[in-house]
Amino acid sequence: MSDSVPRSFIRALPKAELHMHLEGALEPELALAFAQRNGLALRFGSVEELRESYKFSDLQSFLDLYYECTASLITEQDFYELTLSYLQHAAADGVRHVEVFFDPQSHTPRGVKFETVISGVRRALEAGRLQYGISSYVIMCFLRHLSAEEAMATLEMALPFKDEILGVGLDSSEAGHPPMKFAEVFARARAAGFRCVAHAGEEGPPDYIKQALDLLHVDRIDHGVRAFEDAFLMRRLAKEQVPLTVCPLSNVRLGVFPSLNQHNLKRLLEAGLLVTINSDDPAYFGGYVSDNYIAVQDALSLSREEIGEIAANSFRASFLAEEQKRIRLNELEAYTRRY
Ligand code: ADE
Ligand code: ZN
Repeated sequence: MSDSVPRSFIRALPKAELHMHLEGALEPELALAFAQRNGLALRFGSVEELRESYKFSDLQSFLDLYYECTASLITEQDFYELTLSYLQHAAADGVRHVEVFFDPQSHTPRGVKFETVISGVRRALEAGRLQYGISSYVIMCFLRHLSAEEAMATLEMALPFKDEILGVGLDSSEAGHPPMKFAEVFARARAAGFRCVAHAGEEGPPDYIKQALDLLHVDRIDHGVRAFEDAFLMRRLAKEQVPLTVCPLSNVRLGVFPSLNQHNLKRLLEAGLLVTINSDDPAYFGGYVSDNYIAVQDALSLSREEIGEIAANSFRASFLAEEQKRIRLNELEAYTRRY
């Protein structure tokens, strides 16, 4: 790492995290402890054995294990402890604001009530606000490998909790499940007042990014790195300043790029896109948000200004009100001037 960007500068840099799945913060220690106290048997006997299995060839190979471990989450207390564990890492990483994803459809079919999940998550987010001063919003994602009808039923289930959930997203297996499949669900969500985001252009083609913009009318694209294959789309994303929530360590672990040196994040920035850095599933991909910043800085030699700009983008791309964005951007500016 170049001396001009010390790790301590990156770690304490005020930032927002906009792309992280709470279920992806399930460290092996937590998964095994929750399974044990809930009387469930995971097929892994130890933390080491479970961690040893974190070798993924692509998105699907990760999702298979991810959904398996998610089954250890049963009680309100499990969701509370999971979320609080993430917030402790976030606080140590200079995070001031988070927009967290959760997947209701990973829980409700197992008999865990929607209310149990949202109540544990919200209780921890409130503790995070009081203990660490981290503000937060919740985004619930539809699992795109399931049907549009199931997504619509999930949306209906969420309506009584509308005040506790800011937005909807789209995740899980991308290839073969284009955004257009969910156009009606997103139209209904938008009409109900939810903000909209979607994973697109992680493994799927650039056309999925266009569909997410034109058919789902999303405010942000999660991942979006494959936009690079389409020059016209790149110009559009730059012109419209559509935020991309890029997750570098995730991309390497899931084989989207062979190595971090070959990641296109710097080229996306240089093309004028509004790029942010995020952890995706930090328990599985080798690091929380600051680890992602540090790894990228190491691999791509980003300047201190570029790192500062990415942190500023994280607030700009958030769903915070303009006044709240301004406060955090001022804090960031004061930090970079002082450091
Ligand atoms: N769910 C959790 N992590 C994901 C990812 N990287 N892509 C799609 N769905 C996900
Ligand atoms: Zn994701």
